[in-house]
Amino acid sequence: MAQYLVTGCAGFIGSWVTETLIGRGECVRGLDNFETGRRENLAHLAGKFEFVECDLRDADGVAKACEGMDYILHQGALPSVPRSVREPRTSHTANIDGTFNLLEGARAAKVKRIIYAASSSAYGNQPGFPRVESMVPMPIAPYPVQKLAGELYMKSYWQVYGLETVCLRYFNIFGPRQVPDSPYSGVMAKFTLQMMNSERPTIFGDGEQGRDFTYIENAVSANLLALEAPAEKVAGQTFNVACGERHTLNKTFRILAELLDFKSPPIYGPPRMGDIQDSLADISAAGKAFGYEPQVSFEEGLRRTVAWY
Ligand code: UD1
Repeated sequence: MAQYLVTGCAGFIGSWVTETLIGRGECVRGLDNFETGRRENLAHLAGKFEFVECDLRDADGVAKACEGMDYILHQGALPSVPRSVREPRTSHTANIDGTFNLLEGARAAKVKRIIYAASSSAYGNQPGFPRVESMVPMPIAPYPVQKLAGELYMKSYWQVYGLETVCLRYFNIFGPRQVPDSPYSGVMAKFTLQMMNSERPTIFGDGEQGRDFTYIENAVSANLLALEAPAEKVAGQTFNVACGERHTLNKTFRILAELLDFKSPPIYGPPRMGDIQDSLADISAAGKAFGYEPQVSFEEGLRRTVAWY
């Protein structure tokens, strides 16, 4: 029976991936250090998979976790653009050294395929929408640089060692279990919690910046499809994972306010350092290569998210 390792299994995306694989009857090992992951994300899965508490920066621990694995879903990272601006070294070691340690562990363990959580922030502020994978990346903040370095490492390990690697560039994934109360929380989770607590959210800038917000189940399905696709269609390649729609923060605020019956206007603050202005994906490559299609719309995703918190 195939063995799967999920890094960052206690995190928002990692816990969904872990849960979905377990639900399919797969044999799963999960790795997390609880730096940003949460124990409660795994509580309902206790006893159903093997858990390894380990930091991705621990090369020996990571190598051991890779032993006996066929597939790896590398969701573990220290996310957040602003965190990387404030603490570049911390996020550098977790995201670049961590990814390198995993690749080395996977190579020694003769893992068949790694699916890597890459970031749409790699596109930066270059002109041209929608974003197509063939565009030259222009990352701005340290976090997108780190995520892009991970992609290049993934490609290198395919080219040099024949380890099948697939990079999925996530576009603003949101949904249940996204941490809402950290200074580095994603905007959707943060605004939802603030409105539920009757606090007025702050929009950084004029609110006309847009994002291709993507509900979590779409990202999980992309991972599973990329795992199953023939190597000649995916190995060594990068794919956008998004909905293919751009929604402004002003619009997102309005929909959330309606769903939560929140009557006050937002506060407008200065733009955030290191942010990109806009984001919108062309998702046709993932569709062609492995049949990816978003199953849950932006609006339905918002409803499910609000219902969960
Ligand atoms: C997000 C992800 C990042 C991922 C990238 C691309 C998070 C925390 N970050 O970055 O991991 O690589 O998408 O998929 O999920 N904003 C406000 N008010 C707030 C918070 C944010 O106006 O209180 C604005 C930001 O200035 C930005 C937008 O909302 O314009 C989105 O911010 P955020 O949710 O942090 O995501 P990204 O920086 O786009």
